Amino acid sequence: MDFEFSEEQKMIRQSARDYAQRELIKDVLERDAKAEYPTHHIKNITELGFFGMTVEPRYDGGGMDTLSYTLVLEELSKIDSSVAVILAVHNSLDCYGIEHFGNEEQKEEFLRPLARGEKIGAFLLSEPDAGSDATSQRTTAEDKGDYYLLNGTKNWITSANTASTYLVMAQTHPDLKHKGINAFIVDRNSSGISLGPHEDKMGMRSSETHSVMFTDVVVPKKNRIGEDGFGFRFAMKVLEGGRIGIAAQALGIAEGAYERSLKYSKERKAFGTEIFNHQSIAFKLAEMATRIEMCKLLLYKSAWLKDNHLPYGTASAMAKYYCADTAMYVTTEAVQIHGGYGYVKEYHVERLMREAKLTQIYEGTSEIQKIIISRAIFGDI
Ligand code: CAA
Repeated sequence: MDFEFSEEQKMIRQSARDYAQRELIKDVLERDAKAEYPTHHIKNITELGFFGMTVEPRYDGGGMDTLSYTLVLEELSKIDSSVAVILAVHNSLDCYGIEHFGNEEQKEEFLRPLARGEKIGAFLLSEPDAGSDATSQRTTAEDKGDYYLLNGTKNWITSANTASTYLVMAQTHPDLKHKGINAFIVDRNSSGISLGPHEDKMGMRSSETHSVMFTDVVVPKKNRIGEDGFGFRFAMKVLEGGRIGIAAQALGIAEGAYERSLKYSKERKAFGTEIFNHQSIAFKLAEMATRIEMCKLLLYKSAWLKDNHLPYGTASAMAKYYCADTAMYVTTEAVQIHGGYGYVKEYHVERLMREAKLTQIYEGTSEIQKIIISRAIFGDI
């Protein structure tokens, strides 16, 4: 068993760490307060090669492994998980989805610009009445011969406004239920697409989230991914990898809050000594450190399984559930350790706590991950 990262993985991690600690930190509080999109950071991160980093070089990607990508998301999220989620949706869902399930023509047309970071991707599965219950898609894709006509509404879409390339799941054969769902690559600028207002979120406020409405949007047949009816399985396969990205984000949030708490406990004095000398604080930090270590084992293993072409769906669900719940636990404890200072913006931990909450909700709630895990362990019954 080898627990050591390669030199390349360490280098990539360092480059993400440097960028986060030097640049993201400068305006993270302001962007959170104003819910402002991180435009210049996205440009800089594109130059660092993080957009499209796992796509094969023959499609203009960085050719890096999932573990390197996981380390990048973790480092960025220690400071600012809004930037990390934009990257995660783009890489894990859009790039991966098209690279692994699209045809050559689709890769040439849509994957290359995503892999170069010239275009941003969004993933449109959730609907007002189909969140956890993803098979109940109401958005329709009517087969009109050489094109589909798309109608319906999608909810909670990360990068809905800035993305140029949408991956949209829609129902073509309602009688076939989930087997009638298709996945399409849709140009954001197609006529008939409109957005709901910018969602005023509790956390990750610097990433933009909207609902998206489709009214008689024409989608060429060549933009359908896979055979007719492949859309639901496509979404599930893609989300298996997406959950590694969200787990990495959650781990980064937990580590960010832990590191701040450790530092604070060595500086802050109460009852005549630094607070880490009080067992009540020391035990909290010990618990936080241990849970973070457990997250790393689950997360890096799921990335390793993916990189080695082994089944990773159960492992990524375990990592996503455990990292998200740990992020919530650790950030809550971090606020407690900081006392009153933890409850104000300046010390960052209240923001990290708000960000942690979202990792328990999107790309499948913690409860959904437990459904996936329990089905896997009871599968033989
Ligand atoms: N790989 C391949 N196929 C899969 C699969 C997988 N991982 N998981 C399920 N399937 C297949 C099943 O085999 C089944 O196919 P057959 O009928 O042919 O056998 C079919 O899909 C239906 O599966 P289930 O019967 O298991 O479906 P279900 O309704 O019981 O629920 C679920 C499955 C796991 C709960 C699923 O609905 C789910 O994951 N829900 C959460 C959705 C989610 O994560 N949404 C996040 C939105 S994306 C997002 O947040 C983007 C963003 O901007 C941040």
